[in-house]
This record gives sequence, structure tokens and C-alpha cells, in this order.
Amino acid sequence: MLTSQLVAEIALLALAVAVRVVTVNRLVKRKLLLTLVAGLASLAGSALSVAGLIPPDLVADVAGIDTLLVALAAINFVVVVSINPLREDRIPVRFPIIVQDAIIVGLFAVVATSVLPGKFLTTSAVGAVVVGFALQDTLGNAFAGLAIQTEKPYRAGHWIRVGEHEGRVEEITWRATKLRTKSGSFVIVPNNVMSKEAIVNYSEPIIPTRMTVDVGASYDVPPNEVKAAIAEAIRNVPLVLASPAPDVLLLEFGPSAVIYRARFWIEDYASDDPAKSQVRTSIWHVFRRRNIEIPWPIQVQYSREERTGRPPDTTPRIAASLAQVDVLQSLTDADRLELAALCDQRLYATHEVVVRQDAPGNSMFVVSSGTVEIVLEPDGRPLAVTQAGGFFGEMSLLTGTPRSATVRALEDCTMVELTSEAFRRFVLEKPAVLDVIASAVMKRRTEISQRRSETATAAMPAESAMSFLGRVRKFLRIPT
Ligand code: CMP
Repeated sequence: MLTSQLVAEIALLALAVAVRVVTVNRLVKRKLLLTLVAGLASLAGSALSVAGLIPPDLVADVAGIDTLLVALAAINFVVVVSINPLREDRIPVRFPIIVQDAIIVGLFAVVATSVLPGKFLTTSAVGAVVVGFALQDTLGNAFAGLAIQTEKPYRAGHWIRVGEHEGRVEEITWRATKLRTKSGSFVIVPNNVMSKEAIVNYSEPIIPTRMTVDVGASYDVPPNEVKAAIAEAIRNVPLVLASPAPDVLLLEFGPSAVIYRARFWIEDYASDDPAKSQVRTSIWHVFRRRNIEIPWPIQVQYSREERTGRPPDTTPRIAASLAQVDVLQSLTDADRLELAALCDQRLYATHEVVVRQDAPGNSMFVVSSGTVEIVLEPDGRPLAVTQAGGFFGEMSLLTGTPRSATVRALEDCTMVELTSEAFRRFVLEKPAVLDVIASAVMKRRTEISQRRSETATAAMPAESAMSFLGRVRKFLRIPT
């Protein structure tokens, strides 16, 4: 009987060693250590008994402990090997470690009570009471952990908030749930706290998370204009998802401002702060461009006249920007100052779209500072990169045709915008300028057209200089 147990123990140990060698699953390797330790301990007991080295009055007790150890080793082996994949290094979703441990402990308790009913029951009853009192908190945590694993209100990798703690779930153990906060530190929340607190899971039921940003705008601007400005600002932020679509609500009429709420979705909750910051930055730029004021409390008094007028040094600065542009080189300083007085300065934030392909347009932009890229939709194929001194949008300025490409700011940019109407007024006073500028633009257009056909991008129809000039005159209503 003892020798057959010895053989069984050796066979079990050999099997455990073989599986540990064959498997790539690190969890299986680790868990089979218990089988090896329990198996070796029972093997040692059996060997001592066979050799007659155990005092006669202890033989029965040692045999009982041996049987329990073999049972533990065998149950652990069977559960670990049957639940976990041996050829992959992963833990099955339905059987996390904590559940596997619970199965092993449960089966062992059943086997132990049936193998050694009398003795085991008395000793285990006393032991359970002692252990129960000593480990009240630990057991509470363990059962809460088990409940969390079976109910799965969150899983490793999810972003959750529990009480005042927010973080990504790194690990769920018997005792606690480990969260990694946005600042990179760990918060270890005991499982019984997790089971009592309300949990907000940002990663379920859907992955994108909705963010909100509140902003105050002047009472002077119609709400739809402000909403359109905020919507444009949100569209320009790369971290914001296009779908589900963002929206803007008028939240309240505050004491010094109308408060709007921008609602938008992001892919990864970890980037909520950067996304909100980008949206706020973009809103600032769009508001500044559209002359929408973000008012501060009304108690702070300021003179409106001082703020709304154009600062006195703007026109010379615009004239200096225009002087950098090759097609405007032929103008005199006085001409450029006159033209500058008709232009406006615009600020664009990184990633913002300045003009969108196929959108109607009637203005040209001169880049005063920063860099823009010109791309062809729908696949965003790059056409050119333009820096300070460069210009774009001349086609719509001169002919009123829809924008032929999309232009996006690669960094924060300052631009000078010249509208068709302002250009028309300027040209009516200085007709000679039109020929010079239109032929410079025509030259550039021919170069672009050649480059497009070389790179097999959408070709531009060939057009003679005369026909182009005619088209420009017609659009600008300038007599020949
Ligand atoms: P417009 O069509 O008004 O608006 C988009 C602008 O992008 C266009 O004017 C040109 O200024 C510019 N653009 C279009 N294609 C090219 C290109 N291949 N290289 C440089 N600039 C371009």
C-alpha cells in the first residue's frame, strides 16, 4: 500500500517536472512549484515510513499528512494543467489566478474532509475559527477579490475611479486592486474597500470616453456663432475622435459670461488632461480670430475702446510680412502699407485647418511666422510645406473658386489674411498692380501644375495667362 503510494508520488512528481519543462506558460511553471514541494514532502514522509524510521505511534499521523500532501499536489496539478494553456503565456479570462486558487482550495477541502473525516474535521474546525479570527480582514479582502473576479466590474487595463482614487487597473490580487494613477504612482486599494465603494469604469461599456470643457464667452456674440467657433476648435484637436461626434451646449447665463460646454470623445482616458488642454488652447485661438471675448468677472473694469481698436503697430508689421512675399516684391513700400491697412492678422494653433479643400473661399494668406502644410484630400497626400514669407490661397482670392487643397498649421502660426474685396479696392486704385501680381501667381500655378503631373496627383487644367487674367478681372469686377 505504502509502496504503491510511493510510486504514485514519484509518477506525479515526474509529470509535474515534465509539464514545467514543456510549457511556455509562466503561470503554470510557477503554480506547479506547489505540486513539486507538496509531492516531495509526501515522498519524503513515505520514504521514511517505508524505511521504518517513523516512531510507531506517529506512523498513522504521518500517513494521514502524506495523503493530504499527495491530494494537494495532485489537485493543484490537475486544476493548473487543465485550466491554463500550456503552449501560450497567458491566463484564461474566465479563470483568473484568484479563481484558480479558489477552485484548488475548495477541492482540497472536499477531499481532505472525505479522506480524514474525524481528525480533519476537528482540527480544521478549530483551525478555521483561529484562522478566521486572525485573518478577518485578509479573508474579507480575499472574498471581495473573488467577487470582483467573478462579477468583473473592471479588469486589468481598465481606467476606473473608486472613491477619490483614479487610475488604470494594473493587477487584482487576493488582497487588493492595484491602480496606476496618471502621475505614475500606485494606489493599492483593499478589495473590501473596492466592494463597498461605487466604481466608475471609464473603459466600459464602450472604449471612447466623453470629456467636457466649459468656457465663458461674451454676451455680445450670438450663441450660434460661439457654438460654431467652439465646434471648429474641437475639430482641430487631433486627440478628439470624429465619431462619436462632438457637440456644444449653452450651459448657463453666468454673471459675467455666457457659459458653453464642449462635449467630445477621446480614445484613451489616459489622455484626458492633454485633450482638454488642446481643446482649451484651440478655443482660445478660434475665439481670438473671430473676435469673441472670454470675459473675466465684471468687477474688473476696463475700457472697451482700448481693447477693440487695432493696435497702432499692426499695419507696419503686416506691411513687413507682405514685403517677404516674392509676388508682392514689385510693390513700393507705400503700396504695401496701403495694402496692409486692408489686411487682418490671424493666429492659428498647431494642427488647425486654415482652409479646407473644396470649401468656398475668397482670401489669400501670407505666413508671417510658423509653418503650414498643404495636403490633397481625401488621403492627406502632402503637396508642399510653406513657411514665413510664403503664401497660399491665391487661387480663391483671385478667382473665387473653391479651395484646391487643405492647409493645416504645423505649429502656432501668425498669418496675414487679404480678402478679395480688400484686394479689389486696392487694385481699383492701382490697376497696374493686378497684371504684376496675376502673372506672378500664374507662374506659380504653372509650377504647381507641372509638379502635380510629375507626381501623378490630380492634374490642374492648363490655362493661358490671358484667359487666367480675364477670369481674375471678371471675378474682381475690374474693367480692362
Ligand atoms: P487655394 O485653392 O485658394 O487654397 C488652397 C491653396 O493651396 C491654393 O490656393 C494654393 O495656394 C495652395 N496649393 C495648392 N496646391 C499646391 C501645390 N501643389 N503646391 C503648393 N501650394 C499649393
